[in-house]
Amino acid sequence: MAFFVIVSSYCYILIRNSTFNQTERKVSLSDLRTSSGEDAGLSFSIEERGGMLGKWDTVLTEESYERTGTYILKGNTFDVTVENKTPYEISEWKLSFDIETPCFIETAWCGKVDIIQQRGEDTLEQDFNLRNYNHKMIFIDYIMNNDQVFFPLSKGDRFVYHPSLEDKEYPLLRTSPNRANSFAKVGFILYGEETVTSSDLSTAVLTYRLRRRISQDPAFNILAFLSILWIFSFVFLLFSEGRIMDLEQLEIRDKKLIQEIMETFSGFVDAKDPYTGGHSIRVGKYSRQIAEEMGLDKKQCQKVFYCGLLHDCGKISIHDDILSKPNRLTDEEFSIIKSHTIRGFEILSGLTAIPEACMVARYHHERYDGKGYPDGLAGDAIPFYARIVCLADAFDAMNSNRCYRNHMEPDVIIGQISKNSGFQFDPDVADAMLRLILRGDISFAD
Ligand SMILES: [Fe+2]
Repeated sequence: MAFFVIVSSYCYILIRNSTFNQTERKVSLSDLRTSSGEDAGLSFSIEERGGMLGKWDTVLTEESYERTGTYILKGNTFDVTVENKTPYEISEWKLSFDIETPCFIETAWCGKVDIIQQRGEDTLEQDFNLRNYNHKMIFIDYIMNNDQVFFPLSKGDRFVYHPSLEDKEYPLLRTSPNRANSFAKVGFILYGEETVTSSDLSTAVLTYRLRRRISQDPAFNILAFLSILWIFSFVFLLFSEGRIMDLEQLEIRDKKLIQEIMETFSGFVDAKDPYTGGHSIRVGKYSRQIAEEMGLDKKQCQKVFYCGLLHDCGKISIHDDILSKPNRLTDEEFSIIKSHTIRGFEILSGLTAIPEACMVARYHHERYDGKGYPDGLAGDAIPFYARIVCLADAFDAMNSNRCYRNHMEPDVIIGQISKNSGFQFDPDVADAMLRLILRGDISFAD
């Protein structure tokens, strides 16, 4: 989403900048004079250099002009300075003069001049490099006098000064303000029967286009900053996600490892009694199902599973002859068997990652009515996980074949759980187990 917003914003700035660069801007000499020449764009000024008498005065005769008689034209040189006051380059400019006072243009430098003459209904137009052109190619109105060519300009005529892009002397005003070449100087000479002055050129209009780089757009810096911020955030997010994925994979691997170690360990315990093979893993699974049914969260359910898996680990220290004895146990032997709870508690006390495991090992043979062992705890005094494992353990015992009997029938098992609810078993745990059985989530042995 952020990516599309940034791309759209860049497109918007590109279009905005393109519009800015294509806009034709104009400033007139009168505008500049009234605003004291402090225009925010380009400014220009026209200075009279003056005419050197005798050199610039030119005699026209009646042969070369419509008027009769001989008279003198007085020349005046004009220097035009165009100054760039913007922070941008200038891509193009031209200077237009609408003629108010009749005059003649004879030469101009550092550019071409487009001369437009109105002659009745006709418009004559031709552009020249007035310092270098073929006299025979002139097709607008002109006067030849002693090899000098004069182009007459009447009221309504105009000439447009185009700076020559090829002329190396011509600065295109590409530099920023306050630089030495942030201005251009061009010039021309006008003749008249009366000396032409700069006030006769007050109609001058400068037309130009700016070339703003996209990086000069005020919004560009903000967008660039946001883009960099977004890129950093994106990279950080990628890195974080990668790191989280690594950690998650590490956690999955560790959990698998822990579970495999525990299952292997419980397998050792079960291996001591061939008639109870797989008992620990089944008790673990039933315990987890009961915990889930009672609404415990995922972590708690996993802990209950581990507790169920390890509940009989104390049997590792009971002699095989007693564990696998097919005949009835003596009181002493039964007492030894019962000690697996304490042994399990001692073994699992070192398992600090799952502190509940040693409690379950110790108390999973306690009864809800207080008649169990080893401590005779009753009701809620028995750790909750131990009450769950107690029922899972009893269910698996009833549902499995033993050396001295076959497994019980389902209705007998259900009857035993119901009958012992509140006596041997926590009634809430028993209810949860019965719901699982009735739903078919826990199946019976064939
Ligand atoms: Fe046990």
